[in-house]
Amino acid sequence: MSFPIDAVRARFPALHVTDDGRARIYLDAPGGTQACAPAIDAMTRHLTHGTANAGGAFATSIATDSTSRAAHEAIADLIGADPDEIAFGPNMTSLTFAASRALSRDWREGDELVVTRLDHDANVAPWLAVAADRGMTVRWLDFDSADGRLRVDSLATLLGERTRLVAVGGASNALGTVNDIPRVVEIVRAAAPDALIYLDAVQSAPHLPIDVGTLGCDLVAFSPYKMFGPHAGVLWVRRALADRIDAYKVRPAGNVGVRRFETGTPSFEAQAGVVGMVDYLDWLGGEVAPDQPDRRGRLRAALDGCTRYEHALGERFLAGIAQSNAITLVGPATMADRVPTFAFVIEGVASSAVAQALAARGIFVWSGHFYAVETLARLDLADATGLVRVGFCHYNTIDEVDLLLAALAEITRAPR
Ligand SMILES: Cc1ncc(COP(=O)(O)O)c(C=O)c1O
Repeated sequence: MSFPIDAVRARFPALHVTDDGRARIYLDAPGGTQACAPAIDAMTRHLTHGTANAGGAFATSIATDSTSRAAHEAIADLIGADPDEIAFGPNMTSLTFAASRALSRDWREGDELVVTRLDHDANVAPWLAVAADRGMTVRWLDFDSADGRLRVDSLATLLGERTRLVAVGGASNALGTVNDIPRVVEIVRAAAPDALIYLDAVQSAPHLPIDVGTLGCDLVAFSPYKMFGPHAGVLWVRRALADRIDAYKVRPAGNVGVRRFETGTPSFEAQAGVVGMVDYLDWLGGEVAPDQPDRRGRLRAALDGCTRYEHALGERFLAGIAQSNAITLVGPATMADRVPTFAFVIEGVASSAVAQALAARGIFVWSGHFYAVETLARLDLADATGLVRVGFCHYNTIDEVDLLLAALAEITRAPR
């Protein structure tokens, strides 16, 4: 089954917006993807039909409750969880600060945490903060600067009976590396059976299917706005653990299940959008795998289809930049165990200038540190203008890869 790229692109209104007649090439997916039409339509419907707070006896509140239930069920199907294990929040960062604060209530001086130098700061700073509050020791899992791979083989040496939590990412937002989470889980369970594992899946979720049942982590966080939906955050917590966490809540809200992390009135329109996002992925799964009998199967199939399609985009990009002596890729050199997020520098051109030169050609990319502050520091790039980051996702095309490569060739040839 070939990938239905034209039908995919037809479902993303923003892909058809032009600037002075020129098409846009969106290669900024790791910073946030465009929203699919079903997500936009569901949000508009929620607001135009009358929104309300939850738990009332009247029609709009009943509809809001039903939308919220549908959103929890949709995310549960997306990651193989139970709807009661899902909490929505404003974004992954806020949920992680809330989770770290609640989890650490009974952590003590001398207890230990493991964080990595390959993670976005949203999965580092919250843990550094609780470590400072409690007098805990932080242990750092490093990565190999030559290939951008976490040094998972050294993880066991960082673990012990005082390890309370290991925070790790599914994929690096800077370098694109996909981390070997099954191996991380295996090592942690063997060396520190009581430690929790907190997975930041923000950069893996848009590209690879997640199954929390087989993954073996205790908490998983990600962001719908990085995977074709609205601005929101999602936190999954293993049910048995969720029931034990004493979260910070207002008193009448109770402390039930993982919903204890849903403080205040959530963005119900974002939850409506999440239902639309999952509807879209459900549709895509049906296109690439018409034999899948249920939504969970179709959602997995959709992401498997994205993985395969994006692999071809990544191969084309890697082959293209291999032709240039001026471009140095930072991170995994092949498409094995990576998402199609590529970081590079161009000799003699500041990364910010590369991003500006691409923007002038209608190609949208990020440059800088992308909040992967430890990663950039480890690469000795913290003081420079950082890296150029190009991120493909399943709505990009081979033609767009070629246009990017042509633009990069021009930039590298330009006199300086
Ligand atoms: C890997 C990773 N983790 C966490 C975040 C933070 O996500 P949010 O904006 O939902 O807080 C990002 C955002 O770029 C990210 O790339």
